[in-house]
Amino acid sequence: MDLSDRPETLRAAFAVPTSAELRPGGADWMAAHWMPFTGNRQFKADPRWVVAADGAYLIDADGRRVFDGLSGLWCTGLGHGRREIVQAVQRQVATLDYAPAFQFGHPLSFELANRIVERMPAGLNRVFFTGSGSEAADTALKIARAYWRARGQASKTRFIGRVKGYHGVNFGGISVGGIVGNRKLFGQAVEADHLPHTQPPAGSFYRGQPPADAPYAQTLAEQLLDLIALHDASTIAAVIVEPFSGSAGVVVPPVGYLQRLRDICTQHDILLIFDEVITGFGRCGAWTAAEAFGVVPDVLNFAKQVTNGVQPLGGVVVRQDIYDTFMAAGGPEYALELPHGYTYSAHPVACAAGLAALHLLQHDEALARVRALAPVFEAKVHALRGASPHVTDIRNYGLAAGLTLAPVPGEPLKRPFEVAMRMWAKGFYVRYGGDTVQLAPPFISTEAQIDDLCDALGQTLRELT
Ligand SMILES: Cc1ncc(COP(=O)(O)O)c(C=O)c1O
Repeated sequence: MDLSDRPETLRAAFAVPTSAELRPGGADWMAAHWMPFTGNRQFKADPRWVVAADGAYLIDADGRRVFDGLSGLWCTGLGHGRREIVQAVQRQVATLDYAPAFQFGHPLSFELANRIVERMPAGLNRVFFTGSGSEAADTALKIARAYWRARGQASKTRFIGRVKGYHGVNFGGISVGGIVGNRKLFGQAVEADHLPHTQPPAGSFYRGQPPADAPYAQTLAEQLLDLIALHDASTIAAVIVEPFSGSAGVVVPPVGYLQRLRDICTQHDILLIFDEVITGFGRCGAWTAAEAFGVVPDVLNFAKQVTNGVQPLGGVVVRQDIYDTFMAAGGPEYALELPHGYTYSAHPVACAAGLAALHLLQHDEALARVRALAPVFEAKVHALRGASPHVTDIRNYGLAAGLTLAPVPGEPLKRPFEVAMRMWAKGFYVRYGGDTVQLAPPFISTEAQIDDLCDALGQTLRELT
């Protein structure tokens, strides 16, 4: 459905005002909404409206089609407005719009858990649903602590995260997270230490996974041993990492790194949690990054792409023996084994969206498509290296890429912001974060769309002063 040439129809269908109508007097009208992770003052002075979406495009209030270069927020790989998901949601909301999440059940959540488990690495087969990736992070941390307590090792409470890691915005997640800007206003809530980040030095321009013998890579995973020596394994519940860091600007670990973390965690009786909120369900060209990298964690978090972003849903998948430990320690059968959960855990409408999205991911052969597009994307993205001397590094994996831009003196965040604004004006949405510009095009992208995205970015980078 191409809506761009029918802005009037679009406005009537969605009852949206035009950008002209949205702006005058807009300051007052916009004042009440405190927007998340947004420069509110800048946005309210110069708003960028998204009023509809169709396939690989967002549509703005002027009916302009803007290529969705980050798949929403890394979550709409199948494209927008997929009929099968829309219909599943419509059917579900008309049948069962809500069911109490505690002590009563609806069948869709059981069905979805089974469909998710089929796509997990062998051994990860019990699913706890949350409403978001942040809730998944805190749920996984709580499960890890409670698991050791149930096993009589209550001193294992500390967590090890990683510098540049992102695990959402709740207190557990920011404590193990390592993006300083997200932490410094809020203090350290949960006891955590951090592994060093795995970002290669500026100027590396590695394609895909950096090699194991890269000089900077040598001691990265070994430093977990230093943290264990410092804190003692008897105080450490879990290590949590993103298989590759998305929000830090697509930071891909060197070959062998995740395997080494796995081995060290196993040797020291520490749980390994993979936060696959970005990497899960297709972005790596596999169901999980665990599968893509060949390393199986004890606990795996997901969200975002599981419903194609259509409904909020996240979750935590654990090994059966972890679940069984809770059951065995649970007391009488009518008692709760894990006093934890959310009103919207496994919301029926979100589960319907999830089932439809997983079906589409499978039947569209979306993962194969990501694998086929990834080399094309890699070549185009790395060709941007020469576009501007300000591009100091480019990293990529699957259908994700991050470019690091040299800071403007005194204004370290400005250049990526400028790039994103210029790209928006040209008809392309990309994300800016820290000193990076991030790309994650939809799995349904054509090669021509990838070309256009990268060409527009190249032109924008050349415009930078
Ligand atoms: C790895 C990772 N974990 C957790 C989150 C938080 O997810 P949410 O924004 O759904 O709370 C994100 C969001 O980008 C993420 O990338």
